[in-house]
Amino acid sequence: MARVSTATIKEKKQNGEKITMLTSYDYSMAAMVDAAEIDMILVGDSLGNVVLGYEDTLPVTMDDMVHHTRAVSRGTSYSMVVADMPFLSYHVTIEEAVRNAGRLIQEGSAQAVKLEGGVERVDTIKAILDAQIPVVGHIGLTPQSVNQFGGFKVQGKDVETARKAIEDARALDEAGVFAIVLECVPTPLAQRITQEVSCPTIGIGAGPYCDGQVLVINDMLGITRGHVPKFVKKFAHLEPLIQEALLAYKKEVESGQFPSAEHGFKMKSEVLEEL
Ligand code: KIV
Repeated sequence: MARVSTATIKEKKQNGEKITMLTSYDYSMAAMVDAAEIDMILVGDSLGNVVLGYEDTLPVTMDDMVHHTRAVSRGTSYSMVVADMPFLSYHVTIEEAVRNAGRLIQEGSAQAVKLEGGVERVDTIKAILDAQIPVVGHIGLTPQSVNQFGGFKVQGKDVETARKAIEDARALDEAGVFAIVLECVPTPLAQRITQEVSCPTIGIGAGPYCDGQVLVINDMLGITRGHVPKFVKKFAHLEPLIQEALLAYKKEVESGQFPSAEHGFKMKSEVLEEL
């Protein structure tokens, strides 16, 4: 089956079909997500929290993103791979932003990039699009702005910030992004934006009326240690299963039950004798 393209994603909105997206950060997980025919895999800079153990996404570097994007890409043949542009990779100059977006495509083998921000990022997005690199926008609770927001808070709850979110979505749509992630915005605002823009909206903590949905894979599989946001639905509870397997392994190795003969390799008796 051919890989999902930007055209497939746009067609889904036109046909009223929901779009699926999940994060992945490594080859094995990406291969499973790809086999499930999820439309898009996001190599999110959430890898900072999920994989690298940072408190937020700010320390994630371009080299981190390229490394993980390459691993994810190797596991896929169907899902479109979208790589996040990390903090400071697109804020300093437009030229640097295009070069960094290009690295995620050229070295990471992603098909598209995602970056955070609205009106203030339009010129940068247009330059990346000029380099023939498809872009996903991201507005609402943009985690790279955590210090400006003063924490991870729902965005667009008052008239002023809701208006700003609508303006941002319109500006991104007009600039030519092929999808917009709406993170942690009230459901009616997400619904309004989804109706107003021509490109698909992909919600996370944005209610049921977006054109698609994205979740952090560790959250939905129930393997996140620590805080899991309220909007997450756990489709599996793998952490206790993994803990159980780890304890069983420890017990069997310590008692000598594992490995047994069936887990070893035979040797010809002549070789053994000569030895
Ligand atoms: O980094 C990430 O995983 C994201 C999603 C939460 C949308 O940007």
